[in-house]
Amino acid sequence: MILVTGGAGFIGGNFILEWLAENGEAVVNLDKLTYAGNPDTLSTLTGDPRYVFVRGDIGDRTLVSALLSKHRPRAVINFAAESHVDRSIHGPREFIQTNVVGACNLLEAVRGYVDTLSPEGRAGFRFLHVSTDEVFGSLKESDPPFSESTPYRPSSPYSASKAASDHLMRAWHVTYGLPILTINCSNNYGPYQYPEKLIPLCILNALASKVLPVYGDGLQRRDWLYVRDHCRAVAAVLAQGIPGETYNVGGSSEKTNLEVVHGVCDILDRLRPREDGVSYAAQITFVVDRPGHDRRYAIDAARIRREIGWRPKETFESGLLKTVEWYLANEEWTKKATSGAYRNWVQMHYGT
Ligand code: NAD
Ligand code: TYD
Repeated sequence: MILVTGGAGFIGGNFILEWLAENGEAVVNLDKLTYAGNPDTLSTLTGDPRYVFVRGDIGDRTLVSALLSKHRPRAVINFAAESHVDRSIHGPREFIQTNVVGACNLLEAVRGYVDTLSPEGRAGFRFLHVSTDEVFGSLKESDPPFSESTPYRPSSPYSASKAASDHLMRAWHVTYGLPILTINCSNNYGPYQYPEKLIPLCILNALASKVLPVYGDGLQRRDWLYVRDHCRAVAAVLAQGIPGETYNVGGSSEKTNLEVVHGVCDILDRLRPREDGVSYAAQITFVVDRPGHDRRYAIDAARIRREIGWRPKETFESGLLKTVEWYLANEEWTKKATSGAYRNWVQMHYGT
């Protein structure tokens, strides 16, 4: 079996659903259920003997050590993190606590567990750390995309905390020989994403006749990847990656934020047109920019293509259509996700 952390979140949840459907190997999911963790995402797994959920913190070394010795997984995949840049600007401490201190405690628990394995068990064991392209900082218009050897230059408390966790991974591999694989992926989108992130926020705000808030001039660029393509990359790197190496993952799909928001509006105009016949694009509103906002991210995913044989199945257009269709078809999930804590966040961050 495998141990997944943060599996009640967006990417971890998609990963577990896909993993159990495709592969069938049992999963223990350790998740603290912060505001971003949503057990509803995995409600179809209730009663499934291949799935165990444990509520807890990756920083709780006693709990993690006990789970490892009880379930004896052949791999650990670490998705757990505080993941939203804007929240890290309002309050960085949780980001350091989970993404750095928590990651360190997790590594220490795993190190203790690996020491108990037989030589064969140790040779087959893997720890896969899920990280972000934001650790590389902002690109200029003429810069080449990020490769695995691009220097780290994080700009936000979030990306700095993820960069720190990546350095811990490297150090625990070099110093203690832990078989660690790291993935640095671009912006994900798709089903089950908490609606504080740009794409689900715009879908839900559009349908609720609210503004679609675009920071600054909206010409910041991101590379976008459909979440299920990222999940396939995680499974492929787990199976074929070389311990100690890092793999950049992206959709080769660079878009400005304005292009992304217009893309959402165009799809909604077709699938659920406004009653007044006006395009949802009329709701786009330019708002004050994010402090320290990175201008551009782009990913060179040549290594994972060449060495692992992975490539995305979805284009941005096909993935965005699936995403909008999913939010339209899953109003119950979004209704629960946007109650209580979500409203407080929107009020605090965007005001009225
Ligand atoms: P998310 O915020 O949707 O989910 C994070 C999950 O981790 C939640 O279920 C939360 O309850 C859990 N969690 C938080 N702190 C925890 C702790 N201390 N112990 C145990 N569980 C804890 O995040 P996501 O978008 O699914 O991202 C998953 C991972 O992928 C993160 O490490 C993130 O940095 C990375 N990543 C995300 C993106 C993206 O576009 N979303 C892109 C690249 C990399
Ligand atoms: P986000 O989804 O928060 O991901 P990240 O900051 O990790 O890239 O934001 C994606 C882009 O969209 C980013 O450049 C910030 C921008 N953005 C807005 O313009 N308005 C918004 O309300 C949000 C949440 C994001």
